[in-house]
Amino acid sequence: MENHRLVLPEHMNQYGFLFGGYLLGWVDEMAWMAASRDYPGCQLVTVGMREVAFKKSVRDGAILRFEAQRIHTGTTSVTYSVIVSKDRDDIFSTDVTLVRVDGKGRKQSLPKS
Ligand SMILES: CC(C)(COP(=O)(O)OP(=O)(O)OC[C@H]1O[C@@H](n2cnc3c(N)ncnc32)[C@H](O)[C@@H]1OP(=O)(O)O)[C@@H](O)C(=O)NCCC(=O)NCCS
Repeated sequence: MENHRLVLPEHMNQYGFLFGGYLLGWVDEMAWMAASRDYPGCQLVTVGMREVAFKKSVRDGAILRFEAQRIHTGTTSVTYSVIVSKDRDDIFSTDVTLVRVDGKGRKQSLPKS
């Protein structure tokens, strides 16, 4: 699954670069959307992100591309690789794991997809 986002002035930190918290939120949202399309009707929550390393700064006006690919399916969890790029240059990547839960927040087995 692929998506794009425009980086706006309100996403900057006090030094004029993209605030990392926004990027993490967008990465989390991207993984959740990919999982929700793969497992329609399931309630999915993030349980972990593998590595968080911001290797390149981003200025406002940048158009970021997000790509999520399912890389592992477990019993209750599913993991997506999320790669963020700008002008074909990878600026961030991590693996996001989500778990299926019921209405009380208890883990549930994933259906076959
Ligand atoms: C999701 C939750 C119900 C899982 O319950 P749990 O008792 O921790 O479950 P387990 O330790 O058995 O792990 C469940 C699955 O997640 C995987 N998992 C757990 N921690 C993980 C981590 N840090 N990274 C990757 N996978 C992880 C386990 O391998 C397991 O996978 P499988 O069933 O496919 O084999 C519980 O951790 C929780 O409520 N977390 C908060 C989720 C949330 O609110 N997220 C939003 C951000 S605050």
